[in-house]
Amino acid sequence: MSYLPNSPAARDIASVVHMQTNLRRHQEEGPLIMTRGSGCRVYDDTGRDYIDSVAGLWCAALGFASERLARVAYAQMRELGYYHIYRHRSNEPVIALAEKLLEIAPVPMARVLFQCSGSEANETAIKLAWYYWDAVGKPRRTRIISRHMAYHGNTCAAVSLSGKPDMHVGFGLPLAPFRYTEFPHYYRRHEPGETEEQFSARMAEALDALIQAEGPDSIAAFFAEPVMGAGGAIVPPRGYFEKIQAVLRKYDILFVADEVICGFARTGEMWGSQTYGLRPDMITSAKALSAAMQPISAVLVNDRIHDAMLVQSDRHGNFAHGFTYAGHPVAAAVALEVQRIYEEIDIVGRARRLGPLLQSTLGRLADHPLVGDVRGTGLILGIELMHDGSRRIPFDRALDVGNRVGSAARKHGLILRVVGDRLVFAPPLVIEEDDIGEIGARLARALDDVAADLAV
Ligand SMILES: Cc1ncc(COP(=O)(O)O)c(C=O)c1O
Repeated sequence: MSYLPNSPAARDIASVVHMQTNLRRHQEEGPLIMTRGSGCRVYDDTGRDYIDSVAGLWCAALGFASERLARVAYAQMRELGYYHIYRHRSNEPVIALAEKLLEIAPVPMARVLFQCSGSEANETAIKLAWYYWDAVGKPRRTRIISRHMAYHGNTCAAVSLSGKPDMHVGFGLPLAPFRYTEFPHYYRRHEPGETEEQFSARMAEALDALIQAEGPDSIAAFFAEPVMGAGGAIVPPRGYFEKIQAVLRKYDILFVADEVICGFARTGEMWGSQTYGLRPDMITSAKALSAAMQPISAVLVNDRIHDAMLVQSDRHGNFAHGFTYAGHPVAAAVALEVQRIYEEIDIVGRARRLGPLLQSTLGRLADHPLVGDVRGTGLILGIELMHDGSRRIPFDRALDVGNRVGSAARKHGLILRVVGDRLVFAPPLVIEEDDIGEIGARLARALDDVAADLAV
């Protein structure tokens, strides 16, 4: 594609590096430039509208523009546009936001730490796990376990925690302390005749075996997303977390729930931890915390962790951790207003009401010749494309079927997330019933196009 010199696309190609993008192809194809948003739709610079059925990066919970939040940011910038929270400093919005998070936490939590992104939240939680075991005299507990295909962020430790080899290769990662247990993708990975409960038991046995192999006294923490997002919107099979948590308790391993995607009603409860009965020691949260209108993340820690932090602070004179923009008053004020909006519109009730509609609307595509499986919970769902769904025979990778459906969907005005041969949906939580119908209709057209192309 050739662009006019000085057009925004040409200037983009000449100046911007795009993440998670084939950089060579970007030089040829150029960017899709979005100019504005309204509800769950975004508009490109030609005026075309798209329903973004993954809320950007699973985060724009209230849609893509907000006058009300703009006013809050404006007022806060005029009052106190920046101050830090190092060395005993504080500000009113950050205090109120921390209180709110402690009030709505799914299990009793003691304190909140703030950062600017999900990666930094997980990075902080990893450091706190190490800090905890050092405080209680077991500094050799340094290994951290997550799961193959988990995604926890992109800073050095957070991406090491992520079980996605494509994000390690070429960077000399992962870092040494990280280990990965089984990917709990029931549909793809269950044995013939194996029930979800049996599969979950097998996953828990594999975790137990990994811990035994590494040495239980070397393990600091286990991290998990309640529903795996970037791994393909993988809902845990029945009984999974109950069995996994029993193993963690057996070896006294800290449990960190990465609620960066699931937090704030995505799964039909305020937290994924409530949907799946998790009892974490720490919770990391971002994205819908501020409905993505400001970069802010939070780590909630329980008394056990906080008490150890106090011990360390006594010992070393200081909690030597932090970021310049942690507890930023503008980000905190916006996040606090987002929490008010969630209450006003009963975000959990909304997700409970609209979740089943999303599941049934897209569930109807289970019979499509390209589709092997559809499953999800609340307002998150994954569709697995399969050459032969009943016999679970995947498509030849070279056919790149997932990306073909993604491109066809875009032509029909639908943005979705493609993970290999999985199509992933996590629309803004303010999606309306009509838009859910429209997602189903546009997706059906895209699937038909690709099926015709493949002559399936
Ligand atoms: C579950 C999960 N954790 C952490 C992150 C990292 O968040 P961020 O991109 O804000 O650093 C993501 C991002 O998609 C995520 O999905």
